[in-house]
Amino acid sequence: MTYKLGIIGTNWITKQFVEAAHESGKYELTAIYSRHTTTGQEFGQDFNVDAVYTDLEEFYNSGINVVYIASPNSVHFEQVKAAIKHDLHVIVEKSAFSNPDEYDEIMALLAEHKDVRMFEAARHIQQPNFKIIEDQVAKMEKISGATFVYEKYSSRFDDYLAGKEPNVLSRKFSAGALTDLGIYPIYAAIKLFGKPQSTHYFATPLRNGSDGRGIAIFRYQDFDVTIEFGKGSNSHLDSEILGLRDTLVIGDIAEVLDITYYDADKVAHELSQAPVDNPMVPEAEIFADMMTNQAETAEEYQKLLTLSQTVNQVLFDLRQDAGIVFPADK
Ligand SMILES: NC(=O)c1ccc[n+]([C@@H]2O[C@H](COP(=O)([O-])OP(=O)(O)OC[C@H]3O[C@@H](n4cnc5c(N)ncnc54)[C@H](OP(=O)(O)O)[C@@H]3O)[C@@H](O)[C@H]2O)c1
Repeated sequence: MTYKLGIIGTNWITKQFVEAAHESGKYELTAIYSRHTTTGQEFGQDFNVDAVYTDLEEFYNSGINVVYIASPNSVHFEQVKAAIKHDLHVIVEKSAFSNPDEYDEIMALLAEHKDVRMFEAARHIQQPNFKIIEDQVAKMEKISGATFVYEKYSSRFDDYLAGKEPNVLSRKFSAGALTDLGIYPIYAAIKLFGKPQSTHYFATPLRNGSDGRGIAIFRYQDFDVTIEFGKGSNSHLDSEILGLRDTLVIGDIAEVLDITYYDADKVAHELSQAPVDNPMVPEAEIFADMMTNQAETAEEYQKLLTLSQTVNQVLFDLRQDAGIVFPADK
């Protein structure tokens, strides 16, 4: 089946997703939602699509089967809710929702619309290279700890330094370093090791009360995971998972590149595959498969949904620990 795809949000990430969706052969872009007709038309030119809507209701009634939502985080909730009520499948960008209350409401709605599939677009955990990490972790005799680092200077940080408040660093949009970049290593940790027993977040605050960088610590039964992330500086540190004498080193935990396993004799084994050109292709393929083959993929889909909800709860717990409140919090 080829899914008729509608998109919300017209920034570069949506273009990358539409290209991935087309490359998968499972989707065809047919409708664009934008707050401004001209912005939507400009976006549509690259794909020869001129069905542009500024009214969400009309957009959802335009005959699409699935919507990809890449608006600012705080806007996702209402857009996803409306999509589910229209029985549309949803692919929503990370961070999917602002807090667990929002997620609970979405889960209740999904329970009423059983054929609808909703996915949080955490593209890195769908990469073949992530599976390689999972397989290697499963083979390691013992996990003693891990350190995940994802710290990248954002072009939007220039705006912040110039006195502005870019969406991605604003509490108003449920954003900041934690929900924008921290979510990648946090997803990785929870996918690999499960929900931590306790969490702490040492955030470096921005002048607007959101976080520009920070260090989170996840406590598990036998080990701790340290997670460092930020949007106002560049780290060149690798991430690593410690065994006993052995170590798994990951060059980039969000792009899932350069995976090297050092065995007990410190001999290096390169494990990673060459990266896929467009890192959104694997998720586009997997989501299409889960929409089409619902019975066969029911268990995998539930696992993915539970993972997404767990990440949402942990992000909330970390914010509570650091005293970061979003306007979307009740
Ligand atoms: N997976 C990834 O690799 C990746 C990468 C980047 C971003 N993301 C995620 O994608 C989402 C969008 O991020 P972004 O940085 O592109 O955000 P953004 O630039 O702030 O906004 C994205 C789009 O949303 C619409 N928009 C902007 N402000 C809005 C508002 N106040 N109310 C409603 N719509 C608004 C705009 O489209 P129109 O003008 O056409 O309405 C804009 O192009 C976020 O959830 C982010 O975390 C994911």
